[in-house]
Amino acid sequence: MSITVEALCHTYHPGTPLETRALDDVSLQCGRGEWLSIVGHTGSGKSTLAQHLNGILFPDSGTVSVDGMQVVEKSPNMRDIRRAVGLVFQYPEQQLFAEDVMEELSFAPTNWGVQSDRIAPLASAALSMVGLDDSYLARSPLNLSGGEKRKIAIASVLAGEPSYLVLDEPTAGLDSWSRRELTDLLARLKKEGTGIILVTHDLDIALNLSDSILMLDRGRSAAFGAPSEIMRYLVANSVPGLRLPDIAALSAAIGRSDPAAPLTWDRAELKRWIKARETGGRRP
Ligand SMILES: Nc1ncnc2c1ncn2[C@@H]1O[C@H](COP(=O)(O)OP(=O)(O)OP(=O)(O)O)[C@@H](O)[C@H]1O
Ligand SMILES: [Mg+2]
Repeated sequence: MSITVEALCHTYHPGTPLETRALDDVSLQCGRGEWLSIVGHTGSGKSTLAQHLNGILFPDSGTVSVDGMQVVEKSPNMRDIRRAVGLVFQYPEQQLFAEDVMEELSFAPTNWGVQSDRIAPLASAALSMVGLDDSYLARSPLNLSGGEKRKIAIASVLAGEPSYLVLDEPTAGLDSWSRRELTDLLARLKKEGTGIILVTHDLDIALNLSDSILMLDRGRSAAFGAPSEIMRYLVANSVPGLRLPDIAALSAAIGRSDPAAPLTWDRAELKRWIKARETGGRRP
């Protein structure tokens, strides 16, 4: 059971002066219970890729499949694909449409034919997952703060109980507390078996929390692998728009003068190594 993308290409407005090759030969895989992060500079194709994962956009060539179902236009499985893959758009708060939060949160489960007596509990559970209580249910989404709107938009996708959650830059504009709450939630959902695909500019989050990372550069896959492989790649190559987190850059700098130093983004691991070296140095 996985989302699998093979050799995906996508061009906007082909054959016109606006033609833009947004994705070129991109492949990835993410199973249920796994966390894949997609990183890359502005305009590298991240949102275009995310929108292929539940059939908002379709490949020009290459394939996208969800649990074995091909994502193609007019697929007889489109309903199952969209139910399996919950997509939280970039700036999702712009798409809030309902008069109150309850209606917003009921939309996905109603659409998927969930029994009406299960909808209110699902809405409450989704709200509490994003750290909000039931007092929000009667409020108009228009009168909420930017961060609250973002959380409602995420909760509205969670209420549909997707098997995979694709989030396009969900932490942008959130305060650091809410950002932490959100990454904790994603880690918990992953543990419970949801596949997480996170589009992010934040390499710190990607390195610390992912099982694998896809790095896009001008629509092409610059690298795809475990966080340790991606870190090695970033130390050896400069990738536009991506900067190593401070601890990772420090460990790489130490490694240049001492090859025994670990290449790590983990503050505790680096500290342990420095301490052990100091202690070792004092031995006769
Ligand atoms: N609807 C569209 N029509 C034409 N070109 C588009 C469209 N959407 C995106 N593009 C172009 O496709 C390329 C990839 O855009 P995309 O939005 O996927 O990048 P991104 O990595 O999500 O960027 P960001 O980090 O700024 O969100 C860019 O060159 C962009 O200008
Ligand atoms: Mg984008």
